Amino acid sequence: MKFDQRVKWHRADDASHAFQGWRVAVIGGTGGIGRALSRLLASRGAHVIVVGQTFRDAGTPGIEFIKADLSLMREAQRVATLLPAETLDLVIFTTGIFAAPERQVTAEGIERDLAVSYLNRLVILRGIAPRLGVERAGDARMKPRVFIVGYPGGGQIGTPDDLNAETSYKAMSAHMNTVAGNEMLVLDAVKRYPQATFFGLNPGLIKTNIRDNFFGKDSLKSRIAETLIGWLSPSADAYAQHIAPLLASRDIEAHSGAMFNRKARAILPSPGLTDTHIRQFMAASEALVSRAGTRIAAP
Ligand SMILES: NC(=O)c1ccc[n+]([C@@H]2O[C@H](COP(=O)([O-])OP(=O)(O)OC[C@H]3O[C@@H](n4cnc5c(N)ncnc54)[C@H](OP(=O)(O)O)[C@@H]3O)[C@@H](O)[C@H]2O)c1
Repeated sequence: MKFDQRVKWHRADDASHAFQGWRVAVIGGTGGIGRALSRLLASRGAHVIVVGQTFRDAGTPGIEFIKADLSLMREAQRVATLLPAETLDLVIFTTGIFAAPERQVTAEGIERDLAVSYLNRLVILRGIAPRLGVERAGDARMKPRVFIVGYPGGGQIGTPDDLNAETSYKAMSAHMNTVAGNEMLVLDAVKRYPQATFFGLNPGLIKTNIRDNFFGKDSLKSRIAETLIGWLSPSADAYAQHIAPLLASRDIEAHSGAMFNRKARAILPSPGLTDTHIRQFMAASEALVSRAGTRIAAP
């Protein structure tokens, strides 16, 4: 990964009030990184809507829950309709799993990792972006912001000609389609929706439940892997503390499309993500959503 020298930002001396009154949605805010961010922002005065399957923060002031199974595109569409996009200052996408050793398919016929870690984000983003922040009470000098958590900058460009892994399946290649897709969601949205700003976050390795589907939940392999990751990497809470000032920083306002590494330093997008490639990947993604029976919002 290479640093992006054009994008510099500075931590505000006292960022503890930065989110007072902000309206935030965290898609995937019920677990892992999304949950850590939701709890932190709510503790700093934001009103946070979390979307996920299992609500773990009932009774926490400032956190509201929308239950959804985001492996299904029709559920993603429903979430897009339910979200009060018009009043949101900030949207964070963190929903994800890791591809299983054997190919899994959703009830709508989509490879499961692709559906949960990427395609539902496309459906929700297209559904909310045109309305995003249009009735916002927040700071008029800052456009509504979208942060997409994935693994940008790592050089993955995906395989649009076999996005659904029907010709061949390998867990790692399938997951890399979601990595590439999420990076392209940022780059595509920058041009598509100039009324908002879009950023990619690469948290590096964090101890969460994300690898359960790959190693097997509570398996010996899973416990060993997460213990090692726990020794070597920050917790989701530590990452959230570190990244939070970036989410509110005015310094990045003119840098829609920027990507940030685990230390919140700007990194360059993956080489190979040309306009032509992004168009092809987005067309393949839209075709798959439509094949699953959901009409994706245009533009
Ligand atoms: N952890 C890492 O080492 C790491 C490294 C690089 C990138 N990332 C990226 O960071 C993001 C967040 O990962 P994480 O580590 O925080 O993962 P996590 O702890 O497993 O959390 C994933 C979130 O996704 C939700 N989710 C999973 N399946 C869902 C479904 N079918 N419907 C609705 N929600 C669903 C979970 O909600 P429920 O629990 O309610 O189902 C949870 O809120 C992902 O994009 C991941 O690729 C993580």
